[in-house]
Amino acid sequence: MLDWEALEAACRGCKNCSLWEGRTNVVFGVGSHRAEVLFIGEGPGENEDLQGEPFVGRGGKLLDDMMGSIGLRRADVYIANMVKCRPPQNRDPMNAEVDACLGYLRNQVALLRPKIIVCLGRVAAARVIGGDFKISRDHGKWYDRGGTRVMALFHPAALLRDPRRRPETFEDLKALQAAIREVCDHTPLAD
Ligand code: URA
Repeated sequence: MLDWEALEAACRGCKNCSLWEGRTNVVFGVGSHRAEVLFIGEGPGENEDLQGEPFVGRGGKLLDDMMGSIGLRRADVYIANMVKCRPPQNRDPMNAEVDACLGYLRNQVALLRPKIIVCLGRVAAARVIGGDFKISRDHGKWYDRGGTRVMALFHPAALLRDPRRRPETFEDLKALQAAIREVCDHTPLAD
């Protein structure tokens, strides 16, 4: 296992799959190294690739609002993606690309040892929760993965496309808030 600095350096030089060819920046992850809650998205889009930070576009603003609705701040969690380099034309990352990148995420999880993992959307949930996970059916459900509580929310981009999903997402967020109160020791939730 690498420490944060060595891991980030390895990731920045990564050529494990062909996505490196199109990247402006590696989007390693952002947030507190003491975070108890880890959000995992799919992969960088255009804005993220340009700025080197996850969820900075319109979806990122919505993610901040979603967290804010339960008193959670970006600075108090950690946000990473399944793949650290932007897939062309914002297509879904391919399984081989997720596989090639998974070691970095595993190392991030090993360093953080989060109490709660929140998968943002189908791609992250399929890999982290597994089984025959279906986002429309299984969002908001809790799973135990090696002692860590894991759940999935609709991806912010999906909520931008289909705002009718927002009320159920708010229910899922309230369940997340309750779990944070139950198992986290130092994750602030503002009123
Ligand atoms: N979508 C994601 O899944 N991750 C990002 O960082 C940005 C958009």
